[in-house]
Amino acid sequence: PLPPPFQIPLPLPRTLRPVGTTGGTDHYAITQRETTAEIIPGVRTPLWTYDGTFPGPTIEARRGRPVTVTHRNELPVPTVVHLHGGRTPASSDGYPTDLVLPRDRPMEHPHAGMRDPRAVQTVLTRDYTFPTDQRPTMLWYHDHRMDYTAPAIWRGLAGMHVIRDDAEEALGLPAGPRELHLMIADRAFAADGTLHYPALRGRPGVQPEYEAGVLGDVILVNGAPWPVHEVDAARHRLRLLNASNARHYELEAVTDDGRRLELVQIGADQGLLANPVVHRTLPLAPAERYDVVVDFSGVRVGSRVRLVNRLGSGRTRAVMAFRVARRARDDSRVPRVLARDIPAWRRSDAVRVRDFSFRAGRMNGGHGWLIDGRPFDPARTDVTVRMGDVEVWRMVADVHHPVHLHLVGFKVLSRAGRRPHPHDAGLKDTISLRPGEAAEIITRFDGYRGRYLFHCHNAEHEDMGMMANLEVT
Ligand code: C2O
Ligand code: CU
Repeated sequence: PLPPPFQIPLPLPRTLRPVGTTGGTDHYAITQRETTAEIIPGVRTPLWTYDGTFPGPTIEARRGRPVTVTHRNELPVPTVVHLHGGRTPASSDGYPTDLVLPRDRPMEHPHAGMRDPRAVQTVLTRDYTFPTDQRPTMLWYHDHRMDYTAPAIWRGLAGMHVIRDDAEEALGLPAGPRELHLMIADRAFAADGTLHYPALRGRPGVQPEYEAGVLGDVILVNGAPWPVHEVDAARHRLRLLNASNARHYELEAVTDDGRRLELVQIGADQGLLANPVVHRTLPLAPAERYDVVVDFSGVRVGSRVRLVNRLGSGRTRAVMAFRVARRARDDSRVPRVLARDIPAWRRSDAVRVRDFSFRAGRMNGGHGWLIDGRPFDPARTDVTVRMGDVEVWRMVADVHHPVHLHLVGFKVLSRAGRRPHPHDAGLKDTISLRPGEAAEIITRFDGYRGRYLFHCHNAEHEDMGMMANLEVT
């Protein structure tokens, strides 16, 4: 039986400690392994995890201080790690065929039922290097294996990765226990507690009725169903991540007496906004992050503020709740000016305008999700951009597609020929393309040369072809 909402305490993912530091680089080690966790009270759910927990441990990085992460794969399948939103050299970006091979498990001897010692091999590992030469923000890391990203994330392969710097810390934003990292993800559970994913047998893809994307009827925040968190009656910084495979949210924060609290957005996918933007509700497409400040000081002590998904129905409307436990002093502030380093790219800076369509179509005799009519092919270069060029990309979608570019942050230039929406502010790495809508983004390709990706971040669409290669030369 599912728990009633707002009973289970919000888990706070642990911060990963470096295993060592050399020459200003912090080294981390993560073991990918199977485990079980009690997500629904009374039953154990088998998970694939980074280091034994879902979400995986949070990496806290400082701008200018490189990070290496050694991933060791003890799962029964190959994996790929991608740091979403990272400005990462291509060799560490987690290209879908750059596998971390699984341990060769001891195999049953075909005749005697004995273990064949020759089949026992070493566990394979891979080092990922993240230079951390980018704006402070909350990134996330997740699996990215070709054709199998969606089921791997669904089983638990996702964690958060925060970059900080002195300038951001000097702003006086809510911090410490008043800064919360919230990974929101829906899941479906079978009666025995196992996660239900409608995969096809022996080949990639999902059962036809799930081709639009796999939704669950249980909303998890940091791996707990509809949790509750005790807060002071003070400002809190909520760093929201939609790690769902396909579910969209439109969040609002509602008090017990029906008041809607302001969601003061201070940051987008790629870091702080120039100035705060006040929202009543906030749409969150898969892979998007929003950095918001919510002020609980006007909320009656002992009452709750519920985070509600206006797009949900029945139990998928609830997300989590904050219980305002006590009055408390609050020295935090939200300055009028948050950042001055947002690039001022203009349409006239662009050396090129490209058009892309994101639509359903035929693929390998079945249905697929295609970019410009083609499914992903690792052997084909779809787009070649010159390092340093500013480009405008115009994208049209048939249905909702959250489109993500690796390597770069971009700005939303227009939607349906008009000005972008208030929630499009700042630097993004994922744009929620609306059904039938054409949107334009502008970016400058820089950082590293090599092979990167852009794709739909509806994880089922991604696995079913909606991904393309982006070569920076
Ligand atoms: Cu969050 Cu290419 O991925
Ligand atoms: Cu899509």
